[in-house]
Amino acid sequence: MASNRTFTMIKPDAVQNGHIGAILDRMNKAGFRIVSLELTRLSLADASEFYAVHKERPFFNDLVSFMTSGPIVAAILEKDNAVEDFRKLIGATDPKKAEAGTIRADFAESIEANAVHGSDSDENAMIEGSFFFGVRAQF
Ligand code: RTP
Ligand code: MG
Repeated sequence: MASNRTFTMIKPDAVQNGHIGAILDRMNKAGFRIVSLELTRLSLADASEFYAVHKERPFFNDLVSFMTSGPIVAAILEKDNAVEDFRKLIGATDPKKAEAGTIRADFAESIEANAVHGSDSDENAMIEGSFFFGVRAQF
């Protein structure tokens, strides 16, 4: 069954470039309600755990170093069919391949500095939301 929640981060590139407000506005206008929201910074241990699934990939060290390079915004979002609809809203991992009008097409810099994260399954949405917000994810 499709869940109604997903987890997102506005990544260090988009925070640094002043896009927090514009990106949250896109999410709201697409029908996502903000359940939890926090501006924070990932430690090396946080980023390594969050992206542990990619630890054998050649880009893992760069990814962890990028994700700890500055503040991020973490959020839990709610909408029917949240995980799938949110992946459509953000577009492909590589902004050069992202559809026009998607968040990554409009705000990302590169395949690594790609503005936002979106959970890829209902199970991961729950794991990632709890990782950041714990019991505070229950609103
Ligand atoms: P995300 O998990 O951040 O929402 O991104 P995604 O599902 O679209 O992409 P994924 O395959 O899960 O990759 C996670 C993040 O790693 C960086 N990446 N760099 N240099 C590269 O070839 C490369 N490939 C991926 C990106 O920041 C990507 O979002
Ligand atoms: Mg992913």
